[in-house]
Amino acid sequence: MIITIDGPAGSGKSTVARELAARLGIAYLDTGAMYRAVALAAMERNVDFSDHRALCEVARSIRIELDCGPKHTCVLVDGRDVSEAIRTLEVSAMTSRVAAVEGVREQLITLQREIGAKLGSFVAEGRDQGSVVFPKADMRFVLEASLEERARRRRREYQAGGQASDADSVTDNLQARDSVDARQWEPLLASGDAVIVDTTNLSVQQVVDCMIDRLGLADDDRLASR
Ligand code: DC
Repeated sequence: MIITIDGPAGSGKSTVARELAARLGIAYLDTGAMYRAVALAAMERNVDFSDHRALCEVARSIRIELDCGPKHTCVLVDGRDVSEAIRTLEVSAMTSRVAAVEGVREQLITLQREIGAKLGSFVAEGRDQGSVVFPKADMRFVLEASLEERARRRRREYQAGGQASDADSVTDNLQARDSVDARQWEPLLASGDAVIVDTTNLSVQQVVDCMIDRLGLADDDRLASR
């Protein structure tokens, strides 16, 4: 079974995807982590982010490995664990620039499909998973939430990780990313093929319950035990 979850930053995708994967007993494929890994590698190599060829070269030259367990995602770049280093505000800001480069996307999409083929059953989360990467997925979700709620969630995440953040810069960061990111899942909304879930006033459990319901699975219907 392949389930895709797309939507803007702060809509709850990562938490929900991880929880849904755990409930179903299948893997969680965090594709944003792959774009973040390329951005981090490019920052460490002092690459000029306006040089798209150089960014493609970084993506081509590094080995990205993901441990897609439902409870955790471990990201390795050339064997080094970068799971925490890719989560800073600075990397977030640079990642959207990397994700806008077509050549980088092509390489990471190929890698995502390869990983997906090995996993078999998984929940893939990103921006283009249902529209581009796995268009034949069994179920394609798009999560939405108000900008205010998404900013609140992001700040809570940064605080939990011990990172300072002010409300205005978090909101500005989200808004800047929204306009670029939304192009990826808009085709899915236009074709009416996605199940849209507005998470603004829902808890993680309520969102996952709603998804399980849409999948037509009983609460304890773990795919791993079928
Ligand atoms: O979900 P995230 O915040 O970790 O994503 C990081 C960035 O990567 C964000 O700018 C959107 C981009 N991204 C993308 O363009 N396509 C994906 N499949 C996943 C993430």
